[in-house]
Amino acid sequence: MAAGEVNSGEFRLEIIPGNEFVDFPPGPSLLEVLRKSRSGREMAAPCGGKGTCGKCRVRILSGDCREPGPEEKQSLSEQELKSGMRLACRLFPSGDLTVELQSSGEAAVLVSPVAFGGVVSPLVRKQMILLEERDGKSQLNLFDQVRKVSGIEDMVFSGSAADSLSRLVQLRERRVTLILDGNRVLDIESGDTSAALWSFAVDIGTTSVVVSLVDASSGKEIDRRAGLNRQGIYGADVITRISHAADSVEGLKELQDSITLQIGEMMEDLCIKNGIRPEKVNSCVLAGNTSMLHLFAGVYPLGIAQTPYVPVFTEALHFAEGTGPLGSSPFGKMVTRLVPGRSAYIGADITVGIAAVGMDMQEETALFVDIGTNGEIVLGSRDALVSCATAAGPAFEGAHIACGTGSIAGAVYSVVFEADTGRLKTGCIGGGAPSGICGSGIVDIAALLVREGLVDGKGRFLAVDKLSSSTGDELKSRRTTIDGEEVFLLSPASESAHGSPVYFSQKDLREVQLAKGAVAAGIETLLNCRNMAVTDVEMVYLAGGFGSALDPESAFQIGLLPAELKGRVIPSGNTSQRGAVYYTLSGDFRRRTGKLRESLDYLELSFDKGFSRRLMAHMYFDIPRGI
Ligand code: FES
Repeated sequence: MAAGEVNSGEFRLEIIPGNEFVDFPPGPSLLEVLRKSRSGREMAAPCGGKGTCGKCRVRILSGDCREPGPEEKQSLSEQELKSGMRLACRLFPSGDLTVELQSSGEAAVLVSPVAFGGVVSPLVRKQMILLEERDGKSQLNLFDQVRKVSGIEDMVFSGSAADSLSRLVQLRERRVTLILDGNRVLDIESGDTSAALWSFAVDIGTTSVVVSLVDASSGKEIDRRAGLNRQGIYGADVITRISHAADSVEGLKELQDSITLQIGEMMEDLCIKNGIRPEKVNSCVLAGNTSMLHLFAGVYPLGIAQTPYVPVFTEALHFAEGTGPLGSSPFGKMVTRLVPGRSAYIGADITVGIAAVGMDMQEETALFVDIGTNGEIVLGSRDALVSCATAAGPAFEGAHIACGTGSIAGAVYSVVFEADTGRLKTGCIGGGAPSGICGSGIVDIAALLVREGLVDGKGRFLAVDKLSSSTGDELKSRRTTIDGEEVFLLSPASESAHGSPVYFSQKDLREVQLAKGAVAAGIETLLNCRNMAVTDVEMVYLAGGFGSALDPESAFQIGLLPAELKGRVIPSGNTSQRGAVYYTLSGDFRRRTGKLRESLDYLELSFDKGFSRRLMAHMYFDIPRGI
């Protein structure tokens, strides 16, 4: 039996690529079997296995399976079904199978090294002390002696600290180092170890997860790991995952196990690569949206999905060493802290994001826009900040888009039409053949359709004979139909990575219209509630992987951002990851983030009278004159 085999059932699944074998009992869907495998655990399943998104495609290479059901016939073309393509969530194996995964590529998650230039005052710190000589003159017990020489009168000690102290004194060690979480001694080490202080800073995004290893004594982030959030197999957006948590007793546990296991593996990997023993890591800070932090903590998040949208917690949750979701991992000596958020939809990722770009301290009026499955928007300056969250939908994450995908190898991330050569140029992650389109590519295509007049102001695809004579032949040749749907073809089946065409459809453009309309209407509603004009905004921080990969020109072209803000956009990268690192390192940053939890205003758009009207208005496009 090869490495990676599991032997616990009656049928056998062989997964290609990956050369993995999984034995399983009759009953579960292929998606459920794949969730438990190494190769399939990050497979996209945006609708959470309900058979409606068509993204959990696999190709059956051999084996028994029943005829395709109605959902599969709806999502897959006849040609695809003939080639063995099936939906893993709708296929219930009745025997051994060999399957080929369609999207097992590594995630190209945006991560940039984090630089911290402030005063280092880490969450967990070290202090070297010199214990008094045991000459019989002092009558102080050991705890009081440590309190006296450290200058921390209200110091309390953990059980490990008491054990270590008694052992070190027996060994006649006088120079010792306290590991301190506030006034609590977590442990005591022999000698001066104050230069060796390690922490993790984690960003749990709905789509991706980033773990940074931080040298908390020098204030440097020394390494990082990133990957797609493995909870994606339970649904692309938070609402689908919350409903998975609600569906069964195991649902919440599955979601929590999925994220804690993933983070634990990334941490172990970082420790091995950097030669650090897991028990030497003293703290872990986690930022993320409110739903992700609830699921990490194993707290049922149903209130987030139902009006009036009340989460269980938004404050900084604290887990002492050896407790909490990561307490029984090899990192049992680490304290875990969840960063405070503001509300159900303005989470810790946004509070640390605002503090990371410094918006809470700056005089100029700015906008902070983080577009993912939700669009979180903050407006203001150091005087006052107001926020809102729009249900942008997962279109910009590639979900609900026929050929949409995450930022994985093969994803088309950029589409440019060169007017002088009349050629369409596409950029593909990894440089190979295209397999799908990720968020920035989706916005580029929508912008191209608008700019070149292939759609009208309402977003309707124009028939080829209705296109302007100035529309080039290359663009016209790409306007076609596939399975009766109006599409813009990016790659024919013969040139794609998986033998199926890669295209952008009329339905896809409708999803983009909803998403861009929601973000633009959110911006306008915030401006309106503060009696501001868009010209009052002096800068726009575009946060998140999507925001940073986005071509601002395309965003202006489709009306995702108001045209008046041209030249004011600052791509800001993963501000949540950066904020988590800063939170680990800086007391001032922790204080500012805590203050934001109290002072940041929140506007619930579903209660705003003008929002629906603005949403409708912003779903249209401004078609350039002369087309
Ligand atoms: Fe299978 Fe959506 S169709 S996960």
